[in-house]
Amino acid sequence: MAAATSASKIMSLSLSVFLGLSLFLGLVSSAKFDQLFQPYWASDHFTYEGELLHMKLDNFSGAGFSSKNKYMFGKVTVQIKLIEGDSAGTVTAFYMSSDGPLHNEFDFEFLGNTTGEPYSVQTNLYINGVGNREQRLDLWFDPTTDFHSYSIFWNQRQVVFLVDETPIRVHTNMESKGLPFPKDQAMGVYSSIWNADDWATQGGRVKTDWSHGPFVASYKGFDINACECPVSVAGADNAKKCTSSADKKYWWDEPVLSELNVHQNHQLVWVKNHHMVYDYCTDTARFPVTPVECVHHGHHRH
Ligand SMILES: *[C@@H]1O[C@H](CO)[C@@H](O)[C@H](O)[C@H]1NC(C)=O
Ligand SMILES: *[C@@H]1O[C@H](CO)[C@@H](O)[C@H](O)[C@H]1NC(C)=O
Repeated sequence: MAAATSASKIMSLSLSVFLGLSLFLGLVSSAKFDQLFQPYWASDHFTYEGELLHMKLDNFSGAGFSSKNKYMFGKVTVQIKLIEGDSAGTVTAFYMSSDGPLHNEFDFEFLGNTTGEPYSVQTNLYINGVGNREQRLDLWFDPTTDFHSYSIFWNQRQVVFLVDETPIRVHTNMESKGLPFPKDQAMGVYSSIWNADDWATQGGRVKTDWSHGPFVASYKGFDINACECPVSVAGADNAKKCTSSADKKYWWDEPVLSELNVHQNHQLVWVKNHHMVYDYCTDTARFPVTPVECVHHGHHRH
């Protein structure tokens, strides 16, 4: 009797040590997510597993998270493993956005596909509330079998979208040509997963097959290296605070980061030549007159 009691005591002790340890590990690893982000839509569609966050879409709801703070300039990165198998009809987005009708937005949208068909990555920029700058790529790897990093780098000279540190898109500041550039509104960082089967996959022809759900995207490696902006402070004051001056230097203002380096330029050309499947700049049906920014971005019409 006594022996059995102490054995079960030891059992329960080690069980609680084990539980305590795994809770502790869970806390440590999800700390980065908790520090930087919070669910803003359907927190019951989130699960945490060690350093991983899983966010799911089912026939009841999609889900989304947002940063706790707003930022100007710098770099934000997450590692994502996209929905495995049939992801047709779904969109998983990772983006930065400011608020209001004249908002700015930098978007990655991962468009699902039927099993075995490639995911598409759509990027877009909204500047002063106007978007219509879509580009689409297929990727040089299967984004559903492993985690890959997706980043947005932003300074006063350019906005760069990167996949595993390879630039896939650059939007250059062309204020000198009279074009607006997003540099006076603080932005939040967001991700969401939702049903978009009216347009996302093969032009909306393939619908979400709910019997293949729930659709799960997994995240880790949350990283924000940017200038934090108090919500109470006006845009212009934040822009000033987040710009290098005589008494403060920010890494994103380093002259070498005012444009891509030679190696990155080669990478970007390679992506455009081998992986771009749509570019608004060459869509003459949609834009009979080439958008000015495209002319200066060095696009050539075929
Ligand atoms: C899905 O796969 C089809 C067939 O390979 C392809 O044409 C399409 O671009 C892919 N992506 C989307 C989002 O439909
Ligand atoms: C959601 O999908 C499941 C599995 O296909 C199904 O059993 C359930 O009835 C659906 N619920 C709704 C609200 O459509």
